[in-house]
Amino acid sequence: MFNLIIFGPPGSGKGTQSKKITEKYNIKHISTGDILRNEVKQQTELGMKAQKLMEKGELVPDELLIKILHSVMDKNKETAGFIFDGFPRTLVQAKELDKLMEQIDDSIDLVISLEVPDDEVVSRLLKRAEIEGRKDDNRITIGNRLNVYKEQTSPLLDYYAEANKLEKVDGVGTVDEIFNSICKVIDKYLMI
Ligand code: AP5
Repeated sequence: MFNLIIFGPPGSGKGTQSKKITEKYNIKHISTGDILRNEVKQQTELGMKAQKLMEKGELVPDELLIKILHSVMDKNKETAGFIFDGFPRTLVQAKELDKLMEQIDDSIDLVISLEVPDDEVVSRLLKRAEIEGRKDDNRITIGNRLNVYKEQTSPLLDYYAEANKLEKVDGVGTVDEIFNSICKVIDKYLMI
């Protein structure tokens, strides 16, 4: 299996690039943001718990995310690998992911971090707000999402750097330019 984490601040292009990576490398895309938005839309118990936190740009509790992860991985045992988008976001989640991987005799192979400055992500998300109207794409919530990323999620960069799994990629440019840079990193790892 080939297991990849796509990492980066809100609006850095994790979702956009994950879709392209999934198509090219035929691995299963797990976006915890998409899963949670779907739960909110269906107004499930989990969705109702997550909704207010997501609208404020706060993290949903680790135990709920871990339950989601167990369930998605369990349903996709035959996949050639996973791309994790938006997960892990805390050290607790990262350690749980390592544990789950160990249970299936596997591990995270690579962590690709998309490097995008704050002013660029803010402008991308405000533009998306006009087109899609995602509730957390407003100036105040975007600011909070960035703070949460810096305080609670970015420390994971050290965790994966220490494990020699981290690769930083410039996330500014056209979608295809960034995708080419990502493919170079993946292909080097896979030695294609
Ligand atoms: P999530 O959905 O993961 O949101 P996010 O991390 O804030 O990321 P986005 O989806 O906004 O951005 P992205 O990096 O995927 O970029 P995208 O490709 O969409 O999480 C939402 C919420 O759910 C969290 O705040 C939290 O509450 C909760 N949650 C989720 N996972 C959780 C977890 N593990 N633990 C706890 N809580 C969790 O691109 C953004 C925009 O930019 C798009 O409009 C796109 O078209 C555009 N764009 C992309 N690439 C480019 C480019 N190269 N140039 C110009 N524009 C571009």
